[in-house]
Order: sequence, then structure tokens, then C-alpha cells
Amino acid sequence: MLKIVPLSAENAAAAAELSAKCLKEAWSESTLVSQLDNPHDHTLIAYADDRAAGFLSCWCVAGEAEINNICVLHEYRRQGIARAMFGQIFSELADAERWVLEVRESNSAAIALYEGLGFARAGLRKNFYTDPDENAVIMVRE
Ligand SMILES: CC(C)(COP(=O)(O)OP(=O)(O)OC[C@H]1O[C@@H](n2cnc3c(N)ncnc32)[C@H](O)[C@@H]1OP(=O)(O)O)[C@@H](O)C(=O)NCCC(=O)NCCS
Repeated sequence: MLKIVPLSAENAAAAAELSAKCLKEAWSESTLVSQLDNPHDHTLIAYADDRAAGFLSCWCVAGEAEINNICVLHEYRRQGIARAMFGQIFSELADAERWVLEVRESNSAAIALYEGLGFARAGLRKNFYTDPDENAVIMVRE
């Protein structure tokens, strides 16, 4: 069963552990805990079978919501967890007028996810990423 909860002091360590398994630039527990003092932060943790399986980090400022990061453990992918986290954040921030994110040009899985959620390509940041150097696609959902 899938349960999606806000980031908390209790689940930050589990979120850091899962991000280390999924992301090249993992989010440390202290980075995650520091978000608890950020009034603009809306980080969600998804539990599948009582295991932290995904996280989505979002900041919302003045009607613009920015997705900072999203990841799902390998063994739980293609089960709708990322889509479910987006569903939750879209309803929590129903007043947001604009949604923005950046994604590596080669990340076809994430781009397919975002396009399916109504994001459209809005621009490119040349060589935005390093290791390896790569353009960022800017995607926006109005
Ligand atoms: C991108 C990511 C978060 C998707 O998580 P997920 O829980 O597997 O995604 P979902 O199961 O909710 O997929 C929803 C839709 O996205 C698209 N999608 C997801 N993964 C895909 C893949 N590997 N290939 C093609 N389309 C994909 C599909 O349209 C999918 O719908 P479908 O399964 O009904 O076809 C996950 O692959 C991940 O953690 N990747 C590594 C971290 C990362 O790249 N984060 C993005 C940084 S910008």
C-alpha cells in the first residue's frame, strides 16, 4: 500500500538513504532536515510496503512551484509512485499558478513523466549540469 507523507524529523534519515540509492547528487539528512525550517518547502516522502520508496522536493514562492528533485527506488519504479507524489503536491498547492523544473536532456524517463503530467518544454540551459556536462531542459506547467 502506498502512503505519502510530508518530510519530518522522523523520516529525513530514510529519505536521505533512498536519495543516496537513486541520485548522483544525493540529499543528505542535514540538507533534508534544514528544509523543515523553510516555510516554502513542501517535500513529500512516499512509503510503499512501509518502506521509504520515493521523495519529491518542491518549493512554492509567490504562486510559482519549483520541483527541485524527485526520485523513486529502482525496485519500485513504474508503479505510479512518482505520479502519485505529483498528484498529492498538485492538490496541496492547488493555488500555484505555474510549475517549473529542470531536467537533464538525456533523462527520457523523467521527461516522459513530466510530459504526462502536463509539463511542456519551455527552454534550455546550455551545459547546466556537470559530470557529465549536459544541457538542462526547462519544463513548465501553467
Ligand atoms: C523519473 C522517476 C522519478 C520516475 O518514477 P516512477 O515512480 O518510476 O514513475 P511512475 O511509475 O509514476 O511513471 C509515471 C509515468 O512516467 C513515465 N515514465 C516513468 N519512467 C519511465 C521510463 N523509464 N521510461 C519511459 N517512461 C517512463 C511513463 O509515462 C509512466 O507512466 P506508465 O508507467 O503508465 O507508462 C524515476 O525513474 C527515478 O527516480 N529516476 C532517477 C532519478 C531522476 O532521474 N529524477 C528526476 C530528476 S529531474
